[in-house]
Amino acid sequence: MNQDFWNTKNGTISYFPDGSLNIAYEVLDKHLNAPNRNKTALIFEPENGDTVLYTFLDLIKLSNKIANILTNLGVVKGDRVFLFLPRIPELYASFLGIVKTGAIAGTMFSAFGESALKDRFENSEAKIVLTTKELSARIEQVKNRLPKLEHILVVDEENFKQQLEQASEQFSIVHMNSEDYAFMLYTSGTTGKPKGIVHAHGGIIQQKESAKLVLDLKDDDVYWCTADPGWVTGIVYSILANWSLGITTIVYGGRFDAQIWYQILAKNKVSVWYTAPTAIRMLMAKGDDLVKQHDLSHVRFLASVGEPLNPEAIIWAQKVFGKPFHDTWWQTETGSIMIANSPTLEIKPGSMGKPLPWMNANVFNQEGSQAQVDEEGDLVLHPPWPSIMRTVWNNQEKYDSYFKNGWYITGDRAKKDKDGYFWFVGRADDVIKTSGERVGPFEVETALIDFPGVVEAGVIGKPDSLRGEIIKAFVVIKPEVKPSEELKEQLKEHVKKYLAGHAYPREIEFIDKLPKTRSGKIMRRILRAKEMGQDIGDTSTLEEY
Ligand code: PRX
Repeated sequence: MNQDFWNTKNGTISYFPDGSLNIAYEVLDKHLNAPNRNKTALIFEPENGDTVLYTFLDLIKLSNKIANILTNLGVVKGDRVFLFLPRIPELYASFLGIVKTGAIAGTMFSAFGESALKDRFENSEAKIVLTTKELSARIEQVKNRLPKLEHILVVDEENFKQQLEQASEQFSIVHMNSEDYAFMLYTSGTTGKPKGIVHAHGGIIQQKESAKLVLDLKDDDVYWCTADPGWVTGIVYSILANWSLGITTIVYGGRFDAQIWYQILAKNKVSVWYTAPTAIRMLMAKGDDLVKQHDLSHVRFLASVGEPLNPEAIIWAQKVFGKPFHDTWWQTETGSIMIANSPTLEIKPGSMGKPLPWMNANVFNQEGSQAQVDEEGDLVLHPPWPSIMRTVWNNQEKYDSYFKNGWYITGDRAKKDKDGYFWFVGRADDVIKTSGERVGPFEVETALIDFPGVVEAGVIGKPDSLRGEIIKAFVVIKPEVKPSEELKEQLKEHVKKYLAGHAYPREIEFIDKLPKTRSGKIMRRILRAKEMGQDIGDTSTLEEY
């Protein structure tokens, strides 16, 4: 890490006089007696109903009230407090309210089902969760198995609203060190249960700098990052970096709808827009006429993240918006944008761009040395950097497995060209990216096996022109169970309920037997090759198939 560089940036972060900090102060409370006090921080566009505006002062007060409620319930530094909420203002204010108390704020995507919730609450030993009436039903199903979960706060219940009403608007923010934990979120790998990736307060310095540099955020921008805070982009670039820069930020509470998205852009005169390839492709599919019906002349800068951005999407944007999407690459674990098409970089459509000036990225070949120009290899980054994850919750072994010979191994395959641009090739493991959302095949397989009559299941990502990948499941059922379309539908519904609404297999195929290694591990590589009609490669470790 270039410590000298980050030392020069320390001055841009608000530290307390004792040298400590708290990201909630840097993001909100530093604006209390400053020019942004009465500036609009949040423009909330609900799915139904009128727009609601929150100034920085409003958010300071609301997050203080929440911090007071939590402190009265016994929350102390280091406790885990989770949010299982849709995109409503309470989610944003509560995140910062939790952080103010010194607790670790955890988010869970609102599509999660019972088992996904149980795994995450169990592993994190969360003490409190904030949720809504509608979503709380899923927690009720599992709460008996969660002895550490002391309180379920339902933010749209009268009782909570009254508590909020009565709570003080003043709160004394808990002072933290740069290395103290601030937030965590679960993400999936190839095997095992989801991992709790933990980030520290000190990451804010890089989150803020990257937003300035890559997203080009300026004081008078109206900014919309479409990501949900259940995922890392929705935390880092729609709560932390943006508000630490004092930027007016849009939150849309509803589901994707091309017409509504264009209306939001036009009505609010959005100038900087950070979204994801699947959404861009869905907009493309709705055609150019729809775009022309809206005045999008205020849109100044477009960026994308989460999955490969195909050149057609960039070319389309250039045609309809008069400017391209700038692809950015990073991960839950990296805590901020690592590789990007920054505003001043000439875009090579299809490339992720170049590492940010403070990052050292490389591509390693099988021997662990630098790959040749245009040679595919493992994408690696040189640690540490301020926003890197600090631990994997209760799983030191997993954390250690990310590092090899002094490098952080991303798990992605990539190439670097002669001009230093990086090109994404794919994942080195079996992690699935569907509509930009990261799904572990093991979790989906476990959900399928939970259904009566299923013997085993193998799950892969299948390339899809709209969603990047869709989840495809190969399912072995008991001889007495009859394969049918109806059974497929039942399995899909089961995965939605058990695991998550976004993680169900859109395609299911019944097969007699799964390809496995001699030690009994499902070989998803073979399932993928078969699905794609490719050569199945080396099968020397394969059990007879
Ligand atoms: O495989 C890469 C893909 O998303 C993974 C990280 O997913 P997640 O932790 O959910 O974070 C997503 C947003 C920060 C990466 O390992 N990915 C992310 N951005 C890109 C990408 N793949 C191709 N191009 C990108 N720009």
